[in-house]
Amino acid sequence: MLQSIRIRGGVGLNGAVDISGAKNLALPALVTTLLTSESVTLTNVPDLADVRSLLGLLSHLGTDIKISDDKHTVTLQTKNLRDVVAPYDFVRKMRASILVLGPLVARHRMASVSFPGGCAIGTRGIDLHIKALRLLGADVKIENGYINAEAPGRLTGAEINFSIPTVTGTENSIMAAVLANGTTTIINAAMEPEIPALVELLNGMGARITGHGTSVISIDGVESLHGTSYEVIPDRIEAGTYAVAAAATCGKLILKNCNHGHLLSFFETLHAAGVACDATDDGVLAYRRSNELCAVDIQTAPYPGFPTDLQAQYMALMSLSTGTASITENIFENRFMHVPELCRMGANIAIHGKTAIVTGVKKLNGAQVMATDIRASVSLVIAGLAAEGETVVNRLYHIDRGYENIDEKMRNCGADVERISV
Ligand code: EPU
Repeated sequence: MLQSIRIRGGVGLNGAVDISGAKNLALPALVTTLLTSESVTLTNVPDLADVRSLLGLLSHLGTDIKISDDKHTVTLQTKNLRDVVAPYDFVRKMRASILVLGPLVARHRMASVSFPGGCAIGTRGIDLHIKALRLLGADVKIENGYINAEAPGRLTGAEINFSIPTVTGTENSIMAAVLANGTTTIINAAMEPEIPALVELLNGMGARITGHGTSVISIDGVESLHGTSYEVIPDRIEAGTYAVAAAATCGKLILKNCNHGHLLSFFETLHAAGVACDATDDGVLAYRRSNELCAVDIQTAPYPGFPTDLQAQYMALMSLSTGTASITENIFENRFMHVPELCRMGANIAIHGKTAIVTGVKKLNGAQVMATDIRASVSLVIAGLAAEGETVVNRLYHIDRGYENIDEKMRNCGADVERISV
């Protein structure tokens, strides 16, 4: 039975919320098990549908997995592979399954990964992942809906120059290059905080990588990697989402464990809009600095710019500003699915190409709404929390892919929300 979330709006979110481990680091971090026969233990792993999907794929490939009772510590060991095929059913559910490609070819010389199709937020090519693997010496063919990659022996270090910075493409290339013969240089690498974190984990396994966190990463290949333990960093997108929820509901939230430095450009924008996000000893304190919200224009950009993964939530907030904000989505071509749904709740938003013009309204009204990706769906939850009356956001499974226990976390901060089966 499908689940929805029912929200009775108009209640401020107050108190403290524990920010979970970062989904977009946990996924590549789990995949590092494919690079070593020794065991890798990850702590602070978020308990999310996407993590469970990836664990399902790793188990299918032959990884032995132990999960602690609280689900946040995962120990993985891949002594021998049972299969090198990542079937359609896994990749269809989660595009990030493409992350197994690099490590499989690096250590096991072979991989066959179902070709991820388009997804709700855009076509999202994987040409750059394939280009990088080919430069490292793999033979890559697209056959019958699969990416079939084979390496004659160890991959060979190379210069990989990305035309655009790609997050999972950079991660895949790093994980392919760690076991290569010689040095690899990635130029125009993505700089999102999850990349240096992944490199820290890999270096802890014996990899020799430098330059992470900058746009040029250098990887000296090693013959083998060993096991390690690693704590997943806090989820900056979850933290940013709760900051917006506090602001939209005129509440005050401590975002426990949030790393302030990972959200600087986002917090700068919120500050200009009238929302304080102060660094504290144990995280960040988010609240409105003034009664009224100013309209502030933004454009999404690769890190350290304004994150595309917070664009939908920010738009829900700007729907309640006192002016007109222009929001431009530069990363994905179809990431405005929340717009018609926000308009059903009374928002005033017009789309012109990749820009949404958001004219603030005095109030939003509760409605039945639905969206088709994680961030769009959560923006509707935020709108529902701020709206007058009852909102039901359908297809909760999108939110469960990326937000741990969202209903419980919000209830703990005073929100009137419940999970219902429809
Ligand atoms: N692109 C290509 N070819 C490629 C790879 C990317 O054209 O081979 C394009 C994409 O279509 C997009 C741009 O490059 O226009 C940037 O995409 P990127 O590859 O950086 O995105 P991703 O690695 O697929 C990760 C996150 C996304 C996040 C983006 C951007 C993970 C598992 N996913 O995706 O997270 O939006 O980076 O920051 O890390 C989410 O968590 O909701 C989410 C979608």
